[in-house]
Amino acid sequence: MRSLFLLASVALLSGQSPLLVKPYLQLGDNPTDASRMTVVFHAAAPGKFTVTGPKGKAIPAVEQKIAATSVAEHFVYSAELTGLKPGAEFLYSVSHDSKIIFQAKGLARKSAGQPSRTVIFGDSGQDNTPQREIAWRTVQAKPDMVFIVGDIVYSRGLVSEYRQKLYPVYNADTDSPNGVGLMRSRLFTGVPGNHDTVTTDTTKYPDAQAYFLYWKQPRNGPALGGKHQPLLQGDHAAAFKTSAGSAFPNAANYSFDYGNAHWTMLDGNDYVDWQDPALQKWVADDLAKAGKATWRFIGFHQPGFNSSKAHFSQQQLRWLAPIFEKGGVDVVFSGHVHNYQRSYPLTFTPSGPGAKKGEVDGAWKLDQAYAEKGKPKGVIYIVTGAGGAGLYNPEQDQNRATWQPFTKLFVSRNHSLSILDLNGKNLLFRQLDGKGQELDRFEIAK
Ligand SMILES: [Fe+2]
Repeated sequence: MRSLFLLASVALLSGQSPLLVKPYLQLGDNPTDASRMTVVFHAAAPGKFTVTGPKGKAIPAVEQKIAATSVAEHFVYSAELTGLKPGAEFLYSVSHDSKIIFQAKGLARKSAGQPSRTVIFGDSGQDNTPQREIAWRTVQAKPDMVFIVGDIVYSRGLVSEYRQKLYPVYNADTDSPNGVGLMRSRLFTGVPGNHDTVTTDTTKYPDAQAYFLYWKQPRNGPALGGKHQPLLQGDHAAAFKTSAGSAFPNAANYSFDYGNAHWTMLDGNDYVDWQDPALQKWVADDLAKAGKATWRFIGFHQPGFNSSKAHFSQQQLRWLAPIFEKGGVDVVFSGHVHNYQRSYPLTFTPSGPGAKKGEVDGAWKLDQAYAEKGKPKGVIYIVTGAGGAGLYNPEQDQNRATWQPFTKLFVSRNHSLSILDLNGKNLLFRQLDGKGQELDRFEIAK
């Protein structure tokens, strides 16, 4: 094994690596099978790339040409590893013209019987000190999986921004306060935030919408029928769509199982109308199909229940609250608002649109008896958007008079990350700041 590492190091040190972005681990189009993971990497030129997993067989990597005129044409390669032992570390390597050019250890997905730890944060991709501090804290938390809950890169979701603000921070060659090597060893998942999809002018920004090029996630989302997606304009829209293939726009909504949890990931951007009965049916059916999972979680960027003065009117995801409740959802994770908030366990009945665009009126019922332990009556809504970008509304920290009635805790003076531990019927949630100080904690037992 040592000689393989040496070979890889020599090739990389001598500058011969044809890789633009080193390998990282993704779900691939595989919602449920814990023995499979997809290895993804980017190259400047087409070539004969293979990936070898623990089974020892070289798997030819599938090539995807990315034509964007503002960055050089490049190639995304993917290969699915099979036969992995759930929850176990495995060694994998990438070869170019049969020579090993990269090697790393990955962690296979957890099966339903195994405990798991997920780290969650959003609004992170700023290439700044707080982002790196949260990344460094994430690696020390030793997650099995990381979920970035939108605004993956600022401020336009460009290819060039991925190369500056995502991969160097989370897919570095070593772990240090300047960047961590987590993406090559642990599953990363994501949902699109507003900054990831806001740039629709492909004439001015031909390398926009990189989310749809670089994340390889299940294609089991709802049929969008040309609606509920970023409306691309300009000279390079067709070239982008060819590059993205079926990922655009379908990779914005999907679901998967990890350990004994089912995750439903949604696009919370305002071009999606979550009042559309077809979309609502997809969410309801997805939760109903997750029958065996002990835990159900939802992830989307724009929080329905938010006490911050920032983004207060963007309540469009409140329309789904009754579906989450009926579907047995435990916790909903959002970002967008750059601070940390936890709601009381709540149920909500929408009554109609509110006074301002995006607002949703209705009545909530709060479980104020839930004392951070036991079984809550309702869904807990978490805002964990303090992953790197500048904090919002620090003046509301500890200032309860400014909070909505549904908010139990609001911390806006610290960047932070969420750590979700699942062990059978027990859930432990902790919110830590960049120094490792615990800001919040609750448990659920079923
Ligand atoms: Fe946002």
